[in-house]
Amino acid sequence: MTTDRVKLLGICGSPRDSVTKQALAAALNAAESVGGVEVYGIYLHGKNIQCCRNCGVCLKLQCGYCPVIRDDMCREYYELYRKCDGIILATPLYYMTATGLLQNFMSRMRPFSRDARQGAFGSRMGGSIAVGGMRNGGQDFCLSVLNNMLQATGTNIVGGGVPFYNGASVCSGNGSELKDEIGMAEAEALGKKVAYMCKIVRQGLRAAGESVASANFLGFEDTQALAEGYRVRGLG
Ligand SMILES: Cc1cc2nc3c(=O)[nH]c(=O)nc-3n(C[C@H](O)[C@H](O)[C@H](O)COP(=O)(O)O)c2cc1C
Repeated sequence: MTTDRVKLLGICGSPRDSVTKQALAAALNAAESVGGVEVYGIYLHGKNIQCCRNCGVCLKLQCGYCPVIRDDMCREYYELYRKCDGIILATPLYYMTATGLLQNFMSRMRPFSRDARQGAFGSRMGGSIAVGGMRNGGQDFCLSVLNNMLQATGTNIVGGGVPFYNGASVCSGNGSELKDEIGMAEAEALGKKVAYMCKIVRQGLRAAGESVASANFLGFEDTQALAEGYRVRGLG
């Protein structure tokens, strides 16, 4: 990335233009207020995003997008996802978990699975926002699901810290306007935290020098051996 500004991408998994989008906006606006941060949003309401079929064509072609399914999963989404330094996932709770729409979207990031395994997103930071109709409708569980999605795609988790450990929990009261002051404050704090962490990592990598900046973040010392292990198991 040539620019010094960090790029933060919010992904809203609601099928409605409603409270989840407002909670994500609170987080992204707060992130922007940190300075040196560009924010982008992908809003999935009204979009037809199908689930990955695990056909493997994207991996075979190494094209960086899904060349098989014809739906609203456009190349611009892949570009935004590939380039960003940070991600905030936001979803309404549907039966205590993320919407199928968001899960479908994330499943379509399969073209980047090899890059992720090779540490391409190892310096990326991410956080999560869960919006339920109830105060205690499963936000905690849903945040774990979102954080798992981030981790499974190579992103490092930024939680809320104390007192909202694993991300922002919002209660919509099943209305269409975000009125939950605590939830909004959590979303704002999370947005700022993700933004700061992206900047700190960027500056830290620069200060540490090229060898660390280009290092593989898998956490294994001998990544060659690891890659070979995957290859012989047909996973490479
Ligand atoms: C199919 C379905 C399942 C839901 N399950 C839950 C749930 O488990 N817990 C909860 O608190 N709210 C649940 N809700 C309520 C929504 O999470 C809530 O209305 C939320 O604000 C919707 O987000 P939106 O305003 O962005 O559309 C459910 C709603 C639907 C349609």
